[in-house]
Amino acid sequence: MNLFAKVPRMKSITQNSTPSKILSGKVVTLLFYEPSSRTFASFAAAVKRLGGQTLEIIDPTNFSSVSKGESFEDTINTFEAYSDMIILRHPQKGASENASLQAMVPIINAGDGIGEHPTQALLDLYTIYEQYGRLENLTGVLTGDILNGRTIHSLIRGLSLFKNNTLYLLSPRELKLSDADRKEFIKRNISIIEIHKESDIPQNADFWYWTRVQKERFITNQEYEKVKNKFILSRDLVDKYAGKDTIFMHPLPRVGEIMPEVDLDPRAYYLRNQIRNGMYVRMALLALVLGGIK
Ligand code: NCD
Repeated sequence: MNLFAKVPRMKSITQNSTPSKILSGKVVTLLFYEPSSRTFASFAAAVKRLGGQTLEIIDPTNFSSVSKGESFEDTINTFEAYSDMIILRHPQKGASENASLQAMVPIINAGDGIGEHPTQALLDLYTIYEQYGRLENLTGVLTGDILNGRTIHSLIRGLSLFKNNTLYLLSPRELKLSDADRKEFIKRNISIIEIHKESDIPQNADFWYWTRVQKERFITNQEYEKVKNKFILSRDLVDKYAGKDTIFMHPLPRVGEIMPEVDLDPRAYYLRNQIRNGMYVRMALLALVLGGIK
């Protein structure tokens, strides 16, 4: 909540193009082993809006000494020597945790394989909080790749920190929660209902959170084709199950699972508030962790 309290200030720095010195003198490495648009650009913009500078290393597997066989540990040691923080996206679950065990500078997890995407969860939680003024007593529908979607895993974790939330997880059976994740979430303070058909979507949920099926996590294209786009957010679905205040969210990119006909609906937040909040929330996080803001 301390983080969320900083967001309006970040919004104002951005909207008024106020020169900020919060990160002046700081250099932040963005080390991205996997493709990214929003996470990469919003972090880069966040550092710059706060007066810091970035070292941007995209696809190190092909364009750095990693291609010569350098170990992950050596790469982390190198960039921590050059910068005050490393923001890491990596295809392996647990990579950020490993990096943080050996680095002296803060590591921010910008997505680790099918594991977690904590800063996405922060911006998602902020978007819900901005809408409802609370993070308790909420009902949400999370749809798509529940098995592999790290944004889903982190959002469930995040919402489990607050009281009395109920999440319907809608997916093809092949993409339901792994047994390990289910066990872990059951222990947490959240009520989870796994569903596999549209007609089980509850009426008037507070938010819908749609995701793409994570093609890059499948071994064959055939397996992916079998399960992709089983549940499509369309005008018709909205008319059947959404309430007048239900907000529609998506971490993006979307690849066909939300029809463009929904984009102009005022409840569609994925191309509007949710994206903008991504940068503001990341600015607030950087200001707290690196900028000495209390
Ligand atoms: C997500 C990711 O990379 O996990 N994108 C993002 O960071 N906004 C979701 C996705 O790729 O499906």
